[in-house]
Amino acid sequence: MGQGILTPPGAADVDALLADAGLERRGGSLFMAGVPLSAVADAVGTPAYVYNAEAVRVHYAALDAALAPIPHRICYAVKANGNLAVLRLLRDLGAGADIVSAGELARTAAAGFPAERVVFSGVGKTADELRLAVRAGIGHINIESGEELELLAAIASETGCHVRVGIRVNPDVTANTHPYISTGKSGIKFGVPTDQVVDAARVVAAHPALELTSIAMHLGSQLTDTGPFQEGIRRLLGLVAEVRSAGISTVRVLDVGGGLGIRYSAETPMDPAAFAAAVLPLVRPAGLTLYVEPGRFLVGSAGVLLTSALYRKRSGGKSFVVVDAGMNDLVRPSHYHAYHEIVELEAANRPVAPVDVVGPVCETGDFLALDRPLPALERSERVAVLGAGAYGFVMASNYNARPRPPEVLVDGGRFAVARPREELTELFRGERVTPLD
Ligand SMILES: Cc1ncc(COP(=O)(O)O)c(C=O)c1O
Repeated sequence: MGQGILTPPGAADVDALLADAGLERRGGSLFMAGVPLSAVADAVGTPAYVYNAEAVRVHYAALDAALAPIPHRICYAVKANGNLAVLRLLRDLGAGADIVSAGELARTAAAGFPAERVVFSGVGKTADELRLAVRAGIGHINIESGEELELLAAIASETGCHVRVGIRVNPDVTANTHPYISTGKSGIKFGVPTDQVVDAARVVAAHPALELTSIAMHLGSQLTDTGPFQEGIRRLLGLVAEVRSAGISTVRVLDVGGGLGIRYSAETPMDPAAFAAAVLPLVRPAGLTLYVEPGRFLVGSAGVLLTSALYRKRSGGKSFVVVDAGMNDLVRPSHYHAYHEIVELEAANRPVAPVDVVGPVCETGDFLALDRPLPALERSERVAVLGAGAYGFVMASNYNARPRPPEVLVDGGRFAVARPREELTELFRGERVTPLD
């Protein structure tokens, strides 16, 4: 199941987690980039997502500097956090974007990403989505099957547009992570199997409007060591050599996907320097531009979910604290059994005891933490759930007719709402009570 699970191997390294997030304690109060999080909670209420712009910049700069020795592009994986303010921040840093849907294409356009800096992956792109991307002049379309390639070829002919194509390969590499986010092993739905890549390359090369410019992979998410990247890259480079031997010399990009892990508890994820030290010596001799598609690494630690204690209770010998954020707001604990550290906004040096932190949703699986040593939280007391910047809001739903929380951006000692809390009437916008009338 990899790391970051509900019961971590050791005690969470809270100081390191706070540092990763750009959080600090001043007189017991939790501050993000000079802003007391209690002030944010007072202003916008809870639950609420809060993102630290400076932490995103720090993570981007570290990766960019580590990759600087070779030509590279950091294509931010929009699926991790598609908020327009976060996207604009990354665009301004020079990032490209990795998208998986027309919706994400629209978000990148709204945030001002030039289309040629965008890479489109995904196993199930529809004809409409491919057409939109082709017409937009997208950077690369990473095809994931022979049938998708046939459709793309037809769309290129129909539109007359030149299309830069990548082949997303399934390199059959085992990644030590949760099975739901392991994506580079054979027998799962992602990527073109290695033995079909050269044939696909020939199809691309034979089409007048298609150009094979990239060979790509994505191994999975929350990877904490470099071994799988090296194994995958060796396989991709072998395929680039085979494609070149077949007389196709247009490949300029090696796209190694995302997946760089972060600390959720006590892990020691690879840092950008270790990643670069493992990857660059393999890629440099091939003379290719390196693309990476990190999502979680850039934004995961930079976000917190603020939530308030509603009620405390005891049942069956256990203690519970019911909070106002549920699995609809942050699904990772329920869905992946992911561990998220929970810290008080105002620390008071109280003794801790195990408690289940549960949400208001009508599911027993609705929890943020189980048997977590926490101080006895008072009613209305607020806490921050750390590591909530990636796969947090984007996976939120309206289950139990709960409006999705606001998203707040903190920068330069100030904060502003980047997306407001949903209104109750938005929950049924467009619905008709008597649609047949
Ligand atoms: C094709 C692709 N690229 C990049 C990512 C980003 O992964 P991560 O957020 O772990 O970096 C994903 C995640 O699923 C993906 O499917």
